Amino acid sequence: MSQSSLPRLGFIGAGRLARCLALGFSRAGYPVTAVASRTAASASRLASQIGQCAAFDDPQQVVDAADIVFLAVPDDSIGTSAHTLRFGPHGQALVHCSGASPVELLTPARDQGAAVGGFHPLYLFGGDLADLDRIAGCSVTIEADEPLKGSLTALAVALGCHPLSIPAGGRMLYHAAAHYAASFALCSLAECVALWRTLGFAEDDALRALLPMLAGTIETARDKGLPNALAGPVSRGDTGVVRKQLALLEGFGGDHAALYGLLSRRAVELARRRAAPPVAIEAIAEAVEESLTRSLNAAAAGASVK
Ligand SMILES: NC(=O)c1ccc[n+]([C@@H]2O[C@H](COP(=O)([O-])OP(=O)(O)OC[C@H]3O[C@@H](n4cnc5c(N)ncnc54)[C@H](OP(=O)(O)O)[C@@H]3O)[C@@H](O)[C@H]2O)c1
Repeated sequence: MSQSSLPRLGFIGAGRLARCLALGFSRAGYPVTAVASRTAASASRLASQIGQCAAFDDPQQVVDAADIVFLAVPDDSIGTSAHTLRFGPHGQALVHCSGASPVELLTPARDQGAAVGGFHPLYLFGGDLADLDRIAGCSVTIEADEPLKGSLTALAVALGCHPLSIPAGGRMLYHAAAHYAASFALCSLAECVALWRTLGFAEDDALRALLPMLAGTIETARDKGLPNALAGPVSRGDTGVVRKQLALLEGFGGDHAALYGLLSRRAVELARRRAAPPVAIEAIAEAVEESLTRSLNAAAAGASVK
């Protein structure tokens, strides 16, 4: 497709996500024509990396120079930014990139005749050039009506991503749940590092040991699915080990045993779905529930004392 038949793209916000999307779309042949941000320096830095892209002080100038405008600002600023923009009658679109915020925040633009939508890449942007290569193969969740939906789908494909549709009103649950595959995976690693620290491991050494195991687990899950990738004592039906580990963590105090117990409850559910569930799965489920009752009661008692 020639550049002239592709929509002109503009960015309001030049942060971690905008840097990757703007450069990625430009490399894919899309005209990225305009950038504005809170600070002029930020907008100029991004525009200078893209051929024939202007940096503007006023976000309205981006709207005036683009067909599809990406509002790539922090979620709390999406609504207020959308209120300040004026759209002409020529089929423009305003799109935000948040997974959690509703597309309805863009209603002021819709009321002026612009198409509105959500374009949420399921990827944690670090703000580095490496994002450009790593985003390929990820999914982008799109919420829009046609014809904008078709344009956003083409943009996702141009980045090497898989387009994913979300039902209207589903963004908050979708985004909350997605944390388990990103930030909460990091929180699980942090819990292991904290517990290993009591054995004298430094964080760097712990991560060197843990990250390849995590990478291998992801590959196995890709090959075999979640239930059959599950490893560890729950998957083997080692009731004795599960009981001893829960008791050990209960002795640690805090919420260590509660966290372990809740995740073990999910591991039991996965183990039940395995091609050959362990014979002792009901005994393990009982041990997990008994420990959870103790640790959650202890946590509640601690909270009511405070
Ligand atoms: N980072 C991720 O991993 C990720 C993943 C998926 C979706 N998202 C979504 O992408 C959006 C942007 O997130 P981000 O991580 O890129 O944020 P970020 O790195 O903090 O960047 C935010 C950008 O917005 C600019 N900005 C802030 N307030 C503004 C305003 N009122 N008007 C114009 N520009 C303003 C900032 O300007 P200055 O640079 O000039 O200070 C900065 O360039 C959010 O909706 C977020 O939920 C992020």
